Amino acid sequence: MKFFIDTANLAQIKEAQDLGVLDGVTTNPSLMAKEGIKGQDNILKHYVDICHIVDGDVSAEVIATDYEGMIREGEILASLHDQIVVKIPMIKEGIKAIKYFTEKGIRTNCTLVFSAGQALLAAKAGATYVSPFIGRLDDVSTDGLTLIEDIRQIYDNYGYDTQILAASVRHPMHIIECAKIGADVVTCPLGAITALLKHPLTDIGLAQFLADAKK
Ligand code: E4P
Repeated sequence: MKFFIDTANLAQIKEAQDLGVLDGVTTNPSLMAKEGIKGQDNILKHYVDICHIVDGDVSAEVIATDYEGMIREGEILASLHDQIVVKIPMIKEGIKAIKYFTEKGIRTNCTLVFSAGQALLAAKAGATYVSPFIGRLDDVSTDGLTLIEDIRQIYDNYGYDTQILAASVRHPMHIIECAKIGADVVTCPLGAITALLKHPLTDIGLAQFLADAKK
């Protein structure tokens, strides 16, 4: 399973890259705003800066919601760097844009997916990645992990190549359950990745070994 980090914070991306387990980055307009990145030139430069830190795919989201606007923005984003994946919202115009980019050989990430039917449409349009938001489903008392299971089954039934990118991942158990189900990728904050490192018995055992080594 691939690990993507879900942030536009360069320091956190570097920290995850230095850990040696990072496979890519996802961003969204809210994450860019959180870092104070404003204006088209700064936004485009920031995506390139991210590409220079990480070895792997970097999702950059279009803001337009009409077909022509998504094509225009997506082509600019895709031309920035060969690691860029154009992130497109799951709406009618978005599906048409994904189909267009698929035919042009431009990779896409279909975002804001909350149902198996949406994921099926994204795969049929040829999306490289589909992003079901499991944490936001959990937030409204709907099991996000069940959606990952359903999409896995549907894609396996028909051999769709679209990779399941579990998004809105909030904690280590989300990551572990996604791995058990067979999600292709999880994208999550740095804290959820580093939380996988921790176990109290590891700390106790290491303290004991270091104490014994001094004897
Ligand atoms: C995915 O691509 C999104 O950027 C992200 O995972 C959303 O997560 P959130 O629900 O924690 O905002």
